[in-house]
Amino acid sequence: MLTQDALTGKHALVCGASQGIGQACAIELAKAGARVTVLARNKQSLESTLANLAQYGSGHKAVICDLSDMRQLSSILPTTCADVDILVCNSGGPAPGPMTAAEAPALEAAFTQHVLSNVALIQACSVHMKKQKYGRVINIISTSVKVPLPNLGVSNTVRAAMASSAKTFANELGAFGITVNNILPGFTKTQRLEQIIQNNQAKTGNERSEVEDGFMKDVPAKRFGEAQETAFAVLFLASPFASYINGVNLPVDGGRTGCL
Ligand SMILES: NC(=O)c1ccc[n+]([C@@H]2O[C@H](COP(=O)([O-])OP(=O)(O)OC[C@H]3O[C@@H](n4cnc5c(N)ncnc54)[C@H](OP(=O)(O)O)[C@@H]3O)[C@@H](O)[C@H]2O)c1
Repeated sequence: MLTQDALTGKHALVCGASQGIGQACAIELAKAGARVTVLARNKQSLESTLANLAQYGSGHKAVICDLSDMRQLSSILPTTCADVDILVCNSGGPAPGPMTAAEAPALEAAFTQHVLSNVALIQACSVHMKKQKYGRVINIISTSVKVPLPNLGVSNTVRAAMASSAKTFANELGAFGITVNNILPGFTKTQRLEQIIQNNQAKTGNERSEVEDGFMKDVPAKRFGEAQETAFAVLFLASPFASYINGVNLPVDGGRTGCL
């Protein structure tokens, strides 16, 4: 069990933290003593996340930023990343659809949001991390980097690029006490999964229970995950206890991914 103060004195920047997996990560990191900056687009939901975090220490902050807009991101990087020890790169997944119908603007937008913005965040945060000889970068991606998922053509394409970029960062930053790892969530109970279930229902005309059973049939755990279960893995990777784990893709998927 991680000690309650494992991250005391550390500053964590958690992107996409106004709901779902990102919000769960922000809460677990704050519980472990970190000062947390939460980033997302929606002011109201960020404020409510911040109010929730207040019960776990002080100094937490919110930054409003759209990670699909590189100009907006560039303007907040210098102040937001100046003293970040733990960076969680995360945001909302691209729209579903087959690769044969994927259009260039959708691919470009997803590449900006899921690769270019993460790269800019890691580059900016690594300056302080190098000085501290401590840094943790955790990217929330998808199991599609191991086995591409059906009807998620755009996502499959950009997630693989991010996974490869993270491995490259891991190689370059490892000597500075910095680790860069990817978490690959499986079916996790958030608004994103809700959207995917509803899209599938609309497409197939199936009952909700049929859709859920179909999704769960390949999950050895026979249930969907909780956002907190993904956050526990992030918490471990963010801690000093994970100092020799670098450059890995870690599925948190109840065993669903059908390869090692
Ligand atoms: N849940 C699953 O079953 C599952 C499975 C595999 C992979 N994943 C991936 O894991 C990641 C997190 O998933 P989730 O289920 O937690 O998603 P979610 O419930 O949709 O939450 C996404 C978060 O990212 C923020 N966000 C979205 N677009 C953004 C942007 N352009 N700039 C800044 N923030 C943005 C959202 O807040 P605002 O709207 O306020 O910006 C929200 O806080 C996604 O990439 C998703 O595809 C999820």
